[in-house]
Amino acid sequence: MSFFQVLLAILVLLLLRVIHTRIISPLFRMRHYVKQGAMKIFYLLPSFFENLKDAKEHGDFFYRQKRRLAENPNLRLWVINNGSNVSVYFSDPKLIKEFFQNQDKYVKREFGGAFNAFFGKGIFSAEVATWRRHRRAVSDIFHFDFLKSIVPVMDEVACNMYAKYCPENSNSGKISLLEQTQKVTGQITGHLFFGNSVNDFLFDGENAPLAVSTLMMEIMKTSQSLPVWLFGDGFARRYVSSYKATINKVLRFREFCKDMIKDAQEKSKTKNSTEKPNLLQHLLVHQENFSPDEIVDDFLTIFIAGTDTSAHVASMAIYYLYQNPELLAKVREECKKVFSSGSRVTHQDLQTLELTEAVIKESLRIAPPAPVLMIRKATVDHYLGDIHVKKGTGATVSFLANMYNPAIFPNPEKFDISRWLNRGSESKTTQPNHFSYLPFSAGPRNCIGQHVGTLEAKILLGRFLTMFDYEIPKDYKLRMTARFVYEPADPIHVDVHKRQ
Ligand code: HEM
Repeated sequence: MSFFQVLLAILVLLLLRVIHTRIISPLFRMRHYVKQGAMKIFYLLPSFFENLKDAKEHGDFFYRQKRRLAENPNLRLWVINNGSNVSVYFSDPKLIKEFFQNQDKYVKREFGGAFNAFFGKGIFSAEVATWRRHRRAVSDIFHFDFLKSIVPVMDEVACNMYAKYCPENSNSGKISLLEQTQKVTGQITGHLFFGNSVNDFLFDGENAPLAVSTLMMEIMKTSQSLPVWLFGDGFARRYVSSYKATINKVLRFREFCKDMIKDAQEKSKTKNSTEKPNLLQHLLVHQENFSPDEIVDDFLTIFIAGTDTSAHVASMAIYYLYQNPELLAKVREECKKVFSSGSRVTHQDLQTLELTEAVIKESLRIAPPAPVLMIRKATVDHYLGDIHVKKGTGATVSFLANMYNPAIFPNPEKFDISRWLNRGSESKTTQPNHFSYLPFSAGPRNCIGQHVGTLEAKILLGRFLTMFDYEIPKDYKLRMTARFVYEPADPIHVDVHKRQ
């Protein structure tokens, strides 16, 4: 055999392997679910490329997911391949319920690469035993008294940050809505974790909340580069200089966080009665057996999970209200009752905001920050209702698809808060089925920060509406994309004017 014949044979074998792993095997495994009623969605290229195409052509990265139940309201499940992986998406509320009740039969997939170096084994990504320990510790903290105590802290930070929206001696300013709101939520989460000392430490010239956001952007950018995509984390750590630099920065940042924690530990020994309640104190008291690395893991996880999400909800509410001037006026009037008293807002005050609450719920429905549950992998063969799930299959729920099901949310493209208002017998919409509206997921790994997030979004929205009048350019066209959260592709530039 000549050299070229050997080469050709190797190429043919490689091609056959690719055809087998990427086409034949997934199609075969998908058949199992199609026979059980699943809609089949087969992509030759990674589904990410289809999503990008949708973002370009239809202005929405998740266009197809939104359409799926809009066109088939009774669809119970669909099955999709992504390269050689096969995943089932449950859309029937009964199946979704069963799925969340059977989480012991699934594992969460790892983030991978630089993300793992950053998050470590925090509550979001840890395997079951470690997750359980962390979840218990953090749940102990996020109880009602703590929630009550942090409302005025969040309010104070929001007021201070909003005050900077208009330059000194001026009554107006121009902001990039989501970016600025993320800075506010970043400061809030930093304060919740470290108390007032959050700004005492600088990392490469930035305070901790800003540094986390900068680093996260850097990780996203380097992780999406072609060599990393083609050859993986191990290769990139060795040979891709920008990737190596990012990993080193992550490690340096984690050491920086440990210094902050040590400092907080020292301070807690000399108890300062003026210090506001913070998560770190609680973690240190409740979990003396947590290593500094584990505390850093939880800080970074909570920081990332809690910053962009709440900022997004408040920003989208501000955007949608601007499209509904009458509603905006009503919500502002409601907010004025609790945000204009000159004192810090309380947990109790926030409970009186019926319209604002409905606005937040509708924002979470129409533009959920976390539109799809991170894919789980079945560890055993089992049944969910009548559906047989095979070991190794990916399984998830598209919250977005369900929240656009017209059978449950009539006219789903419309921002309509009446869905959430209790109007007795006049109620226009049937109360949405619990498992069709899951912006915070469900089951044992649901969002641990959902109450913090909702309170925060209410404060951000209420303070914004009572402090500012605002304008969004008339020609702004909302297009949605997926970055860390599902968010506007183009920044929303807003002119703000201080209200008298
Ligand atoms: C308001 C906006 C928020 C939304 C829409 C949201 C949504 C979600 C969703 C859907 C999950 C499940 C993800 C999955 O398993 O794939 C989740 C998990 C989580 N969220 Fe949130 N979240 C929000 C705010 C927050 C806040 C403010 C915090 C913390 C202060 C937080 C902390 C977490 C943590 C730690 C987890 C992982 C829980 C676990 O695995 O046990 N989230 N969130």
